[in-house]
Amino acid sequence: MPVDTVLHNTKICIRGNLVEAGLAIDKGKIVKIAKDTNLPPASTKINLKGHITLPGIIDSHVHLRDQQLAYKEDFFTGTAAAAAGGVTLVVDMPNNKPVTMDSLSLKERMKLAEKRVLVNVAFNSAFPKKLEEITEVVKAGAVGFKVYLSNRIGGIDVDNDDLLFAAFREAREKGVPVAVHAEDRKILEEQRNEMEKAGRIDTEAYVNAHPPEAEVQSIQRIIQIVKKSGVHVHFCHISSALGLNAILMAKKTGLPVTCEATPHNLLLSSEQYRHSGTFALTDPPLRTREDVSALWSALKHGFINVIASDHAPHSLEEKNVNSVWEAKPGIPGLETTLSLLLTQVNEGRLSLTELVRLTAEEPAKIFHLSARGCLDEGSWADIVVVDMKREHVIDSSVFFSKAKYSPFDGMQVKGKPVKTFVNGLLVMDEGEIVTEPGTGQTVSNRFFLT
Ligand code: DOR
Ligand code: ZN
Repeated sequence: MPVDTVLHNTKICIRGNLVEAGLAIDKGKIVKIAKDTNLPPASTKINLKGHITLPGIIDSHVHLRDQQLAYKEDFFTGTAAAAAGGVTLVVDMPNNKPVTMDSLSLKERMKLAEKRVLVNVAFNSAFPKKLEEITEVVKAGAVGFKVYLSNRIGGIDVDNDDLLFAAFREAREKGVPVAVHAEDRKILEEQRNEMEKAGRIDTEAYVNAHPPEAEVQSIQRIIQIVKKSGVHVHFCHISSALGLNAILMAKKTGLPVTCEATPHNLLLSSEQYRHSGTFALTDPPLRTREDVSALWSALKHGFINVIASDHAPHSLEEKNVNSVWEAKPGIPGLETTLSLLLTQVNEGRLSLTELVRLTAEEPAKIFHLSARGCLDEGSWADIVVVDMKREHVIDSSVFFSKAKYSPFDGMQVKGKPVKTFVNGLLVMDEGEIVTEPGTGQTVSNRFFLT
C-alpha cells in the first residue's frame, strides 16, 4: 500500500543539522525520513524544490477571539492567518467573551473551534472560581492556565497570594503549567492615574504607565509562589532587562520557570510609536533599545525558551483613536513572526537551530504537546516549508487576519513560509489556503491523564 504523501527534494532541519532527505506521511504522521531514493511509494508526491523543511511553528501565545469577539478575529480567520504564517499549532488565550474559565466555557469553545480551524489549537484556561473545578478544566482539555496580574480575568482574585498559591499547587498536581502576564495591577493603576491627571493621552504616557518595575515586581511575587508550590510557571512576553534578570536569578536556583519573548519586543523599541502610534500599542509595551539588547543577549545565551507572537487582534476602529487610554492594546503577529525570524537567520543573528528550538521544540515541551514540535518518525506531520531567499515587504492589508494593521508594515523581509502542512495535509500553498475548515484539531491534554 502506498503512503498518503511523500515530500521530496528538500533539506530537513533535524537536531541542528540540515539534512538532504525527504519525508513520508501516512494518516497524519511522519512514517519515514530518508534519502529520496529510499522513500516508499505514495499517492501524492510533492517536490519541495530544494527549500528547507522545518517543524511547523507552535505559537504558544495567541488570542483567537471568536464568540462575542468575532468582530476582531474568529477561528477561521485566525487559523488562516496562522497557516499563512507557517504556524501549525496555536495555544489560545482565555480572555474571551465569555472568558474561558471553567470546564463548561472551555468545552463550548473547543466545540465551536473543532469544525472551523485550519491549524491545531490547544487551549489555556483562566482559573475557575472554585479551585476544585481545576481538575475538570484539565480533564476537559486545557494544556495550561493563564493568570493576568494586570487585571482580573477569570475566577480568582489575583491580588491574593494565598489564593494564587492554592491554584498553582492544584495546577502542579494536575501536571499543567501556569502562564503569567507579569505586570503589577496596582503599579499600572497608579501610573496611569498620574498620567491622566496630567492630561496626557500620548504613547509616551502609555509607556510611562507600564514601567519595567511593574514587570519585575510581579515576577518576583510569582517566583515566591513558585518556590512554595513547585508549579511550572511560564512568563509570557518578557519585555524589560529588569524583568529578565529576575527570571534568570530564579532559573539559576533551579526553579521550574520558563519565559517567552515576542518578535515586536525583540525587533522594535519604543521609538516605533512615533511611526505607528496606537497601532503599536501592546501590553507590555515596546521598550528602550537597552531592553531590546538585553532580550537578544538572553536569547543568545539560551535563557529565553520561546518566541511567541502574542497575536492580539483588534478592529481598526478600536486602534485608530486619539487617546491611548481608549485604544486597545495588541498587535497581530501570526502572519509576520516567521518571516521576521527568517530575516534574522539570513542576517546571521539567529540560527535555524535556535529558531526551531524557540518556536517548536520548547513550546511543545512546556505545554506537553506530545509528538509535535519536531520532525521525527512517529510525530505528527505538522510542517512548514520555507524559501530562505524569498523577499517581500510586510503589508497588513493582505493579512488573512481581520486585524489589518502592523507596526512592521513596510518592512522588507527575506525568508518566507511557502507551504504549511497540518496533520499531514497541505493547508497553505504559496500564500493560498487550500483546505476547508476542520483540518486542524483541538489538541488537548487528556492523553496525558490516561
Ligand atoms: O497587548 C495585549 N493585548 N496584552 C494583553 O495582555 C491582552 C492582549 C489582548 O487580548 O488584546
Ligand atoms: Zn496576550
